[in-house]
Amino acid sequence: MLKYKTYTTEINNLKESGNFRELKNVSFNEGSEIEFSNKNYINFSGNDYLGIAGNKELSKLFIDNLTSVDLTSVSSRLLSGNEVSYLELENTLVDLYKRDSALVFSSGYHLNIGVIPAIALKGDLIISDKLNHASIVDGVRLSGADVFRFKHADLNKVDDYLTKNRSKYNNVWIITESVFSMDGDFTNLKKLVELKQNHSAFIYLDEAHGVGVLGDNGLGLAESEGLIKDVDILTGTFGKALASYGAFLVCDSVLNEYLINKTRTLIFTTALPPFQLKWTNNVLKHLPSMKYEREKLTELSAYLISELKNKGFNVVGNNHIISIIIGDSAKAVTVSESLLANGIFALAVRPPTVSVGTSRIRISLNANLTFENIDLFVDALKFDN
Ligand SMILES: Cc1ncc(COP(=O)(O)O)c(C=O)c1O
Repeated sequence: MLKYKTYTTEINNLKESGNFRELKNVSFNEGSEIEFSNKNYINFSGNDYLGIAGNKELSKLFIDNLTSVDLTSVSSRLLSGNEVSYLELENTLVDLYKRDSALVFSSGYHLNIGVIPAIALKGDLIISDKLNHASIVDGVRLSGADVFRFKHADLNKVDDYLTKNRSKYNNVWIITESVFSMDGDFTNLKKLVELKQNHSAFIYLDEAHGVGVLGDNGLGLAESEGLIKDVDILTGTFGKALASYGAFLVCDSVLNEYLINKTRTLIFTTALPPFQLKWTNNVLKHLPSMKYEREKLTELSAYLISELKNKGFNVVGNNHIISIIIGDSAKAVTVSESLLANGIFALAVRPPTVSVGTSRIRISLNANLTFENIDLFVDALKFDN
């Protein structure tokens, strides 16, 4: 249709390059099963790392205690929407992280695109890892600060850049994911803290994929490294290991007061409904006790990585996120389809989520998987390297 020529041309381009995306209608079963087109598959593509989404007992107990008012959200937090469940959830976060204050947002995407432009102003500098998530990239775009994007994980470059340029700026924010969402590797937090101290910078750590999985109490990479207090803004989302929805940050109280006043995605959006906040709080309180699930993930992951490497695949990832790099997008889709034919739901991740030429099958493990599931996956994965 001529009227939509711009869009149909782009759709055709995406199809030709193997990068066209479609929504898949699925439903979740108990454990780590997913239903798609009336068939059951083992889900290797969910972010429910601890297997909480598949725990129907936990959710049933919670739902039985809900009332109808828990379903409603009536306005933004700064109007009449700051229902008492926000306070309860933020208090739990403060207790767990042992920081001055916590602030809950509607999602991790909202958080990053709201908080980054609020804290990094004209005259400031943002230093951002090139593999940071799209929500960080968009938050950085919305900010008035100058930006230095560094090659993934190359903290020596950051050191050099700050040595030469620190004096030109007021505040400097180093922004990174703790566990990278596509490559599954961990940032070198100790080195970041050193850089922060040497160059008088702030650290903004996105623990979207660290929360739940790392640390004794499941608080993330900063906990496992003993560095929670050194992170100026530590963020996490509830939509992954916590099997809920929403996001949070912990920080010093002065930043908290500032952010309540300056973050547009907190001010100009409707508050989360109480049931969501209560469910998150409920799950969060279980987090410290889920050591078995965290250990199981580590064991499953070590086994999967070694099996894949034995078969000669190009594998990246340290723990629960593991990617098998394929390269070409169309080929990655074909591999994903052949896994589907073997009862495995493991989707291809393609540009723009990852850079061109690095299309992949991205695995996110969950604690309900078994070693037999891993064997099935490894046996089914076949393509010319
Ligand atoms: C590193 C990172 N930050 C933020 C987000 C966004 O979180 P949410 O899904 O809660 O919007 C994601 C989601 O994939 C992520 O991987």
